[in-house]
Amino acid sequence: MKFFIDTANLNEILEAQELGVLDGVTTNPSLMAKEGISGKDKVFSHYKSICNIVDDNVSAEVIATEYQDIIREGEELAEIDEKIVVKVPMIKDGVRAIKYFSEREIRTNCTLVFSAGQALLAAKAGATYMSPFIGRLDDVTYDGLKLIEQIRIIYDNYGYPTQILAASIRHTIHLIKSAEIGADVATCPLNVITGLLKHPLTDIGLEKFLADHRKVNS
Ligand code: E4P
Repeated sequence: MKFFIDTANLNEILEAQELGVLDGVTTNPSLMAKEGISGKDKVFSHYKSICNIVDDNVSAEVIATEYQDIIREGEELAEIDEKIVVKVPMIKDGVRAIKYFSEREIRTNCTLVFSAGQALLAAKAGATYMSPFIGRLDDVTYDGLKLIEQIRIIYDNYGYPTQILAASIRHTIHLIKSAEIGADVATCPLNVITGLLKHPLTDIGLEKFLADHRKVNS
């Protein structure tokens, strides 16, 4: 399973990269705004800074919503660095644009997916990644993980190469369950990735080992 970090914060990206388990980064306009990044030049230069930290897979989202504008913006984003994956919303012009990009070997991440039908369209268009939003579905009393299960079955039925990127992950159970189901990627905030480290028996066990070592080595 690939781990992406869901943030535009450079310190958090660096921390996850230094842990040695990071495969990529997802950003979105809200995450860029949270870091105070605005204006095309600053946004593009921020993407470049992210690319300089990680090995690959930096999702950069288009703002455009009309076909020709999505194409233009996506191609500009893809020019920033070969690590860029163009993130395109699941709308009619977005699906058309994903098809265009896939024919030109520009990698895409189809975002804002909330149904199996949308996931099927993304795969048909040739999206590299397809992001169902688990947490936001849970927020409206639909089981987001059930959607991941459904999409896994559909993609396996037909051998679609589009990778399921579990997004809008809020806690470690979302991540573990996504791994059980067979999501190809999970994108999570840093605290979810580091949350995997935690177990009280690890802490108690380590304390005891070190105490026993000190007893005979002091
Ligand atoms: C990732 O690609 C998505 O933009 C992100 O996971 C959305 O998460 P949120 O629902 O916590 O905003």
